[in-house]
Amino acid sequence: MQIIRSVDELIGYVAMQKEHHHSIGFVPTMGALHAGHISLVERAVADNDSVIVSVFVNPTQFNNPTDLATYPRDEESDIRLLAKAGVNAVFIPTVEEIYPAGQQRDHEFELGSVSEVMEGKFRPGHFQGVAQAVSRLFELVRPDRAYFGEKDFQQIAVINEMVKSEGIDVEIIPCPIKREEDGLALSSRNQLLTEDQRRRAPEIYAALKYSVEYSKEHSVRATHDTVVERIDAIPEMKVEYFEIVDARTLLPVEEWEESPEIVGCITVYNGKVRLIDNIRYR
Ligand code: PAF
Repeated sequence: MQIIRSVDELIGYVAMQKEHHHSIGFVPTMGALHAGHISLVERAVADNDSVIVSVFVNPTQFNNPTDLATYPRDEESDIRLLAKAGVNAVFIPTVEEIYPAGQQRDHEFELGSVSEVMEGKFRPGHFQGVAQAVSRLFELVRPDRAYFGEKDFQQIAVINEMVKSEGIDVEIIPCPIKREEDGLALSSRNQLLTEDQRRRAPEIYAALKYSVEYSKEHSVRATHDTVVERIDAIPEMKVEYFEIVDARTLLPVEEWEESPEIVGCITVYNGKVRLIDNIRYR
């Protein structure tokens, strides 16, 4: 596996792949890699001739400086896991390599209404920052396919909008959420949980799973409330939002019959750690 730290070296590497007509699969990450990331990498390895993974903690998508400062990092372990998974090249740039002219955006991305709800409401500027990093990485890596985890369900919808509005020729491949045996969705942020918080964290998915059964006999409103009440009753846990939405528009639904595709998206503070998860109802 080639370890690439500079934009110039990456451009050379990509040019060589294109010259050999190798298809490029790309997995953008912020490092602190876990089995969820590796499942994206494995899919990329299966689908493409060459796989590039980026490890870049993008400062412009953090609206909270403490969140950025405490974001877990472990380059040595990341490199080991990626080499073992059969990645061809890992790109580990500095902030200056990605944003040589500074971190301010040269334009606002058109991300549509899917960017305005949920994370868009609670993390102002977050998706503009994600679009800024991902569009820059796409420009450098020129992938045929790019792989994103469905834990960040809304992020995938936003990336699809960004790709459309920026006219980027790449196929976006969504990949299923990976969970611990106890149901907790894998996330780099799980490392930040105390022992007690980690023990209680699976309650998020337990409440979501229970709510799928519950939804068969109850209204959208009642299903919403049962999830929020159950999680809020757990020490140190507080639901920031739980929205039951049309999976295509991300707009809230009021009746189950309103859409053939419905997903519940949740964000929970477990102590100071912000965890997200989601579940399909339809
Ligand atoms: O999902 C992430 O890890 C990040 O938002 C991404 C896509 C790597 C952009 O920085």
